[in-house]
Amino acid sequence: MTGAFETVGVVGLGTMGAGIAEVFALAGLAVIGVEADLAALERGRGHLEGSTAKAVAKGRLGEAERAEILARVSFTTSLEDLAGADLVIEAIPEVMEFKRALFTDLDRICKPSTVLATNTSSLSVTEIAVTTTRPGRVVGMHFFNPAPVMKLVEVVRTVITEDGLAEEVADLARRLGKTPVTVGDRAGFVVNRLLLTYLNHAAVLLENGLADRDGIDAAMRLGVGLPMGPFALLDLIGLDTSYEVMCVLFQESRDRRHAPAPILRELVTAGLLGRKSGGGFYRGEQPAGPLSTSKPSVGSVAVLGEDGDGFADKLSAAGFKSAAAADADVVVALSRTPVIELAAGLAHPERLVGLHLVGDRIAEVASTVLTSPEAARAAEGLVRIAGRTPVLCRDRAEFVVDALLYPYLNDAVRMYDSGYAAIEDIDAAMKLGCGYPSGPFEMLDELGLETVRDGLRALYAEYREPSLAPAPLLDQLVTAGVRSIRDLP
Ligand code: CAA
Repeated sequence: MTGAFETVGVVGLGTMGAGIAEVFALAGLAVIGVEADLAALERGRGHLEGSTAKAVAKGRLGEAERAEILARVSFTTSLEDLAGADLVIEAIPEVMEFKRALFTDLDRICKPSTVLATNTSSLSVTEIAVTTTRPGRVVGMHFFNPAPVMKLVEVVRTVITEDGLAEEVADLARRLGKTPVTVGDRAGFVVNRLLLTYLNHAAVLLENGLADRDGIDAAMRLGVGLPMGPFALLDLIGLDTSYEVMCVLFQESRDRRHAPAPILRELVTAGLLGRKSGGGFYRGEQPAGPLSTSKPSVGSVAVLGEDGDGFADKLSAAGFKSAAAADADVVVALSRTPVIELAAGLAHPERLVGLHLVGDRIAEVASTVLTSPEAARAAEGLVRIAGRTPVLCRDRAEFVVDALLYPYLNDAVRMYDSGYAAIEDIDAAMKLGCGYPSGPFEMLDELGLETVRDGLRALYAEYREPSLAPAPLLDQLVTAGVRSIRDLP
């Protein structure tokens, strides 16, 4: 049946729409691109020409091939030109009234067999479908930014989707070189429900002053191996889109963690929408230059706690004198948990910083309310000397990486437990949709269920946010001594 899709319409040629048009044209389909006015149409054409020119420059595409791709795309400002399309996908702004009005028009214009698809990030596909006289032929077809690169398509089937249609659309996604994951119609689907909740959490922690933008981004890139930090990714997705997705998630869940971080609203209102408007969390800053490894002026250092990484040895190899905690200029406490209690028992609590080594590339440097700025700066320098990137943060439960990672893993367990998606689909979706090195269930296996459960308990005790409490399934697995969620019968 996939052969039935030969001509597709793409309505809305912004970043996503133009990317989607490129993907279809690359796979050999005829594409009709529609925009509201000539200026927007020219911008859309510009996106497509620019992106394919870049592919030629990088040697991924030949000139002749590029010409063929561009020749497969026609541009129009008239929806009426979509009458004969086999499938029409919309990628217009995330406003339900706009979508409903568009689908009413498409339903009137397109032949009865045309499949109407929405690239909505989170809005209800069912609510869009019921505005048409063919709700059974309306599906979600959700691509990821940048559409030509990310390999995932979420195919969203509603309770009224015709039997077999989701499979046909999934086959079409495969023909585009993508991997489809078919899911039901729930706010945020798989990826945005997990991803945007985590991104929003990062923005909340930034506002709480846990760490700064660059620290949080570096922590998640270097500490977890994600392709981008949360703020660079929010800028890529668009802060307006991110804000809208959060509003939809909140409306459905009423979970405070889904309430958009106020900083998102503030940036959006200021017109700082991310990359597409020239600035968001990042505003044209140059990437940070090589990190200084100049030696901090510290006489002696005390390293407390379990030092699996040989941190103390690295410092003495670099010429630092070791001393007892009572005498040292800086006291570094290697710890997975906050160190304020330890600091309070010292003669010089201002000299103590907490240090949490994450993976082999970063160290979280936690300042307590008593830590002096000099001690924090010195510890930052010591971390660099030891060959790691320092992430300065406050002395809070699970510091930065685990505070962001564990709730995301918890959400994935809840999603699975709710019956919405299978473990393999959730893992595949996060890897292919966001370029994560491993899916949440693979990460859980790697970290250990108990470690994550205990981390979530600590986060809940610190922040008292109900959704930070370990998912009941996670708790039960640990209690039952089950090592992997995959081992469930
Ligand atoms: N169009 C076409 N190709 C692009 C591109 C674009 N916009 N951006 C990057 N590429 C290509 C590059 O040309 C390059 O290809 P080659 O290797 O063949 O030269 C390749 O992608 C890798 O790009 P770069 O080397 O420039 O950069 P990178 O290695 O840093 O990767 C990235 C860039 C692919 C964006 C990567 O950082 C990544 O995977 N980031 C995560 C993106 C993500 O999470 N997306 C999902 C967001 S959520 C969403 O979109 C859903 C929603 O509804 C909100």
